[in-house]
Amino acid sequence: MHHKILHFPGMLRSVRYEASLAMNPSTPSNEAPGSDPLAIFLEWHKTAVERGLPDPDAFALATATPDGRPSVRIVLFKGLTDGALRLVTNYESRKGEELARNAHGSLVFYWPALGRQVRMEGRLERASASESDAYFAARDRESQLGAWASAQSRPVGSRAALLENLEQVRARFRDQAVPRPPHWGMVKLVPERVELWLAGQHRLHDRFAYTRDGAGWRIERLAP
Ligand SMILES: Cc1cc2nc3c(=O)[nH]c(=O)nc-3n(C[C@H](O)[C@H](O)[C@H](O)COP(=O)(O)O)c2cc1C
Repeated sequence: MHHKILHFPGMLRSVRYEASLAMNPSTPSNEAPGSDPLAIFLEWHKTAVERGLPDPDAFALATATPDGRPSVRIVLFKGLTDGALRLVTNYESRKGEELARNAHGSLVFYWPALGRQVRMEGRLERASASESDAYFAARDRESQLGAWASAQSRPVGSRAALLENLEQVRARFRDQAVPRPPHWGMVKLVPERVELWLAGQHRLHDRFAYTRDGAGWRIERLAP
């Protein structure tokens, strides 16, 4: 099969890419940026938020079927507590059904302007009902109604049908607090492996793989 190559988009943008390298002067000594990768992740995320980068909370979450067919989508970071990262979603969505049957998950954050990537792999599980309740209660009312109105990942006939669901839900919960739908809540990823990636000069990027080792982490530098 012969494919005609029209252009190499990355080459046009290498100047912009080089600019992010200025963010990462931190590893000339060949040392990993710290012993706790989750603390470093939180620092990097904070930097992304403080600099006003677009969608600093967005990350790609991969799940898989029991026979290992992967699927991936963007979701939002909702915090990190007791060594587990949080997101919220519909438990009956495609991802929800996959993680219920195969708990292995994988995720990646990328902040281009920082020249930094964070990957995590580990167990996916539902957070406690009380934690999901507390988070849901703090959402604005329209988002709460939306969680009832949308059977995420199921076919829906039209946008009008979706809006009609919303109006039905609005009528159902008129003059009362909206309870959390049983199919909606927090999911935790408990990382067993974390990889920190920093853009480096000459494409010789810095990579540090952290693997859970008892209460701490074993660290290895990886070739880029
Ligand atoms: C920027 C962005 C943020 C998103 N945040 C979430 C989220 O926090 N939770 C969620 O369930 N879906 C979120 N979505 C939608 C998902 O990408 C996806 O369409 C949805 O969860 C259904 O995925 P699934 O069918 O694989 O379960 C977001 C999409 C984008 C583009």
